[in-house]
Amino acid sequence: MVSIHVIVTFLVLSILVPRSYSFNPIVSLSPKSDVDLLEFPLNLEYLEAEFFLYGASGCGLDAVDPELAQGGPPPIGGKKANLDAFTRDVILQFAYQEVGHLRAIKRTIKGFPRPLLNISKEAFAEIMDNAFGESLHPPFDPYANVINYLLASYVIPYVGLTGYVGTNPQLQNPTSKKLVAGLLGVESGQDAVIRAMLYDCRNEQVHPYGVSVETFTNRISILRDKLGNNGMKDVGLGMRMLEGPEGRALGSVLAGDKDSLAYGRTPQEILRIVYGGGDECVPGGFFPRGAHGRIAKSYLDTII
Ligand SMILES: *[C@@H]1O[C@H](CO)[C@@H](O)[C@H](O)[C@H]1NC(C)=O
Repeated sequence: MVSIHVIVTFLVLSILVPRSYSFNPIVSLSPKSDVDLLEFPLNLEYLEAEFFLYGASGCGLDAVDPELAQGGPPPIGGKKANLDAFTRDVILQFAYQEVGHLRAIKRTIKGFPRPLLNISKEAFAEIMDNAFGESLHPPFDPYANVINYLLASYVIPYVGLTGYVGTNPQLQNPTSKKLVAGLLGVESGQDAVIRAMLYDCRNEQVHPYGVSVETFTNRISILRDKLGNNGMKDVGLGMRMLEGPEGRALGSVLAGDKDSLAYGRTPQEILRIVYGGGDECVPGGFFPRGAHGRIAKSYLDTII
């Protein structure tokens, strides 16, 4: 009896197993979806690499590691920022970390050439104007001084961080998960350093606007949530959240949900933010011609 059961089970399994592969093609699909999810953040890594490289050194990827740009157009408006020695040191380290991130992603998947990036002072001024709902006078210049550069930096790695948190549960392949965990770790670290440096001077006024550093971060965070259009996933330095940390400490040196877990964002939400207009189908902001890769292109193709 037992041996008949075993034989029957074996026969049933040998019929079912190949079918289950064809019905549920995890094996052939998962690497493909992983590839799409892994190439998407290249957009943000290029943006960060160029903004930090220019800010710290006055030149970008074309000077440092031209092969990684793969012939993509040079960014618009990058400049050496007026930084003190400590900040320049930190930002230069971030810049080279982004170069490493680009290399690590491209070693895992084919990727794409650098998209056209707009990191001009006008691009950042527009974000700050949107954050305040009025034109700042004079227009905000991210490259003018340490505080402005840190506020401009506040705009970027956090978006990458939420993207990696959102991507992680979608990944199938252990190699992809390992890569994303590694990227997420350092991206969060960068965000934490920027936030800590700003937290230290949160009550200072941002010259000449008469508005505190803390208020700038709150406005930027509120704008990101508005553009992302999918709930509360952003916390400025002075946004005393009802929820965390445990509702028992006042400040928000780091962002997190009610259990102090990092928020995740989808590629659509990220595109809405980095395009600056809240629409994943309408390029602009840091990406005047749109982001690259299958996921980003799929939204661009929807416009006629
Ligand atoms: C860069 O951004 C600014 C501000 O939005 C805009 O005025 C300028 O035309 C942009 N440059 C390009 C080439 O898209």
